[in-house]
Amino acid sequence: MASNPLESKSQAWSALFSEPMSELVQRYTASVGFDQRLWQADIAGSLAHAEMLAAQKIISTDDHASIVRGMAQIKADIETGRFEWKLELEDVHLNIEARLTQLVGDAGKRLHTGRSRNDQVATDVRLWLRGEIDNLAPLLVAMQQALVAVADKNTDTILPGYTHMQVAQPVSFAHHLLAYVEMFARDAERLADVRKRVNVLPLGAAALAGTSYPLDRERVAKTLGFEGVCQNSLDAVSDRDFAIEFSSFAAITMMHISRLSEEIVLWMSQNFGFIDLADRYCTGSSIMPQKRNPDVAELARGKSGRVIGHLMALLTLMKGQPLTYNKDNQEDKEPLFDTVDTVRDTLRIMAEMVAGIIVKPEAMERAALKGYATATDLADYLVKKGLPFRDAHESVAHAVKHAIAQGLDLSALPLATLQNFNANITDDVFEVLSLRGSLNARNVLGGTAPAQVRAQIEKLKARLAG
Ligand code: ARG
Repeated sequence: MASNPLESKSQAWSALFSEPMSELVQRYTASVGFDQRLWQADIAGSLAHAEMLAAQKIISTDDHASIVRGMAQIKADIETGRFEWKLELEDVHLNIEARLTQLVGDAGKRLHTGRSRNDQVATDVRLWLRGEIDNLAPLLVAMQQALVAVADKNTDTILPGYTHMQVAQPVSFAHHLLAYVEMFARDAERLADVRKRVNVLPLGAAALAGTSYPLDRERVAKTLGFEGVCQNSLDAVSDRDFAIEFSSFAAITMMHISRLSEEIVLWMSQNFGFIDLADRYCTGSSIMPQKRNPDVAELARGKSGRVIGHLMALLTLMKGQPLTYNKDNQEDKEPLFDTVDTVRDTLRIMAEMVAGIIVKPEAMERAALKGYATATDLADYLVKKGLPFRDAHESVAHAVKHAIAQGLDLSALPLATLQNFNANITDDVFEVLSLRGSLNARNVLGGTAPAQVRAQIEKLKARLAG
């Protein structure tokens, strides 16, 4: 067997080094503990590179065949857990390359022709992330579908809409849930947009300046399904915008999930009692026997913190780096990996939990009746009778003040009392003052009227199915 310069890291670089790396430095600089999750992308990238090297006659077809054979063996070994990852070989790239050379000799040593780990790692992360993006996209759809399904049953379920956390105007529960569908739809668009910029090939940039071998970068891009080729070799090896953009997408998505979680927590509290969650999404207390806590929603809210933190970590990681590759970049992986894992798991569990929300319409409606939620409707009613809006607003303020003093809802005041505040009021006012009347009146595109919301639901169902 030919000697393998990658047998251990102390020899990996070159004869230039006269002593092995200290153990502490080895541990400090190694990434194999976490970047081994890139192994499939690493092998795919290497195979595409080798195929192109052979097509360009930079390596022989025999060498290419040996590389293919060796990689098949490595793949099988990793899949069955037999692959021996070595810390002294630093990262996933050197581990696989060293093993390849062990298996197929000199052909393995030729694989790295015209390539550097700098363009290799950038390629691997992009390939891996593209796959994860493709896994996440359907989860965002499922999240929206879960919300639409609950909305579908609740276009006539009334709950108070809030501003400043004060009862403002009645809305339907469906309308409220569809607000989140809009947010997740934008997240899905953002994700699709990020994918375009992730899906560009750095390989061929080599260490930083390009390479003197006649590589066919377009061919490699095509093999790997990349839509384009990085146009500047320096940028190719040093850019991590694609990871930062993905993290921004993730941070915004988690922020949306966190807002929904916060509402779920509030709605489930005894003070609201708007919804209940199935037992399988709740936990008990070790001391208070009566407790059922919405831990999943709380954790989802909490986990938004780490994803937002990872975005900050990546921005900070990049901001001081001169061109081109710096070892700092190795630090991009753990935040990125954890971001993907957290968003994936959170979307899955939230979609499931939302689908199983138990709605308590009476409690919602009772709450909507409490805060003079139809006062605006009375003002609009007076405007339609010819009053300028500001005057109508003033009359209604007096009526509300009186109603508060009586401890009554506006709709419970006798007609004669209401007429004291404005003589134009007639007994058609009571329909206007009802929660349902208020809802039906908001029959404008994007409004909460059941007719509008049902139309939105049909549109969304069609879009999400397609
Ligand atoms: N493990 C390294 C990383 O994650 C691979 C690239 C190393 N390149 C280098 N020139 N040291 O970024």
